Amino acid sequence: MEGVALNLVHNGVVRHLQWQGNSLRFLDQTLLPNKVEFVETSDYQVVCDAIRRLAIRGAPAIGVAAGYAFALGAQSIKADSQSVLAEKLRGMRREIESSRPTAVNLSWALKRMVRILERSRTVQESVKLLIREAENIHVEDIDMCKTLGQLGKKLIPEEGSVMTYCNAGGLATGGYGTALGVIHSAFSSMTDGGRTGGFKVIVNETRPLLQGARLTAWELREADIPFILITDNMAAHTFAHKMVTCVIVGADRIALNGDTANKIGTYNLAVLAKYHGIPFYVAAPTSTVDAGIESGRDIPIEHRGEEEITHIAGHQTAPPGTSVTNPAFDVTPSNLISAIITEKAICEAPYRDSFERIL
Ligand code: MRU
Repeated sequence: MEGVALNLVHNGVVRHLQWQGNSLRFLDQTLLPNKVEFVETSDYQVVCDAIRRLAIRGAPAIGVAAGYAFALGAQSIKADSQSVLAEKLRGMRREIESSRPTAVNLSWALKRMVRILERSRTVQESVKLLIREAENIHVEDIDMCKTLGQLGKKLIPEEGSVMTYCNAGGLATGGYGTALGVIHSAFSSMTDGGRTGGFKVIVNETRPLLQGARLTAWELREADIPFILITDNMAAHTFAHKMVTCVIVGADRIALNGDTANKIGTYNLAVLAKYHGIPFYVAAPTSTVDAGIESGRDIPIEHRGEEEITHIAGHQTAPPGTSVTNPAFDVTPSNLISAIITEKAICEAPYRDSFERIL
């Protein structure tokens, strides 16, 4: 692990998705923090599988990966006409889109890819423009996250302790991060001004797959931002002892009324924040807002395998045959959210009006 991350983080951007001209090189996040291992592939199905098994994860990151998967699919097709290419890509699109259901960024990115396909005239032109569009989606995501980081940093108190959940950092996006991007921008401004104060991040470990402990802690350590790690069941105690100044999390899908789907357990923190009178912020690019749905009731929730609950790191922790439910996300009602930070504006309730202005 020593020194392996040297080329991975550049100017605050985690380069975990790298387009290589005609293949995609991606970091296998399931192995972090113990191993930094990349996979290089030109097979779109390897990318779908990586999304399913969370080797690539986080809403904006799977949107970026979906764009690259579509481009890889297009370049692998032997088609002598544009219509044959389009027909074969229809099936691939369905396959990529179904790899994970909750994050809307996946279908958002694929819609952009299909629009490019429809505007292209030849097979050769399509492949060239699709690759370019996938790269655009990637670069734009980094820019959106940097902009929302700059916008949101004023909400982060200098002397405070900011709680976050799951991983909404560079690894979960094109490279900069949403919630962690805001924290990063805020911390950079503090240190630029020579102030490091008592600022710190409180990281929840995030059962069952420990994205907080494995990934957020890893990113904060790489960035030299002070943090402490707690288990998820310590959150209420931490609030009660006045150790939390605000909470900031990412999002997988936001409905028009502001209801927000994010990693299972986010809702718990929102309820705790409301009870203790602490601000609860969501940070997400506008690609995470689903203008097609009215409220959180319509957000599809992914259910994952039983082993994620009955085992920890391959070791069985519940008796054989134990019944399990494993929803990967929950929905935080918008009345528990103090503000939603996007790259266009900091939105406040009523969210429908705010979104209408910026979308
Ligand atoms: O199951 P995961 O690890 O993909 O879940 C990720 C989250 O819930 C993140 O908080 C969310 O995607 C926002 S990422 C900027």
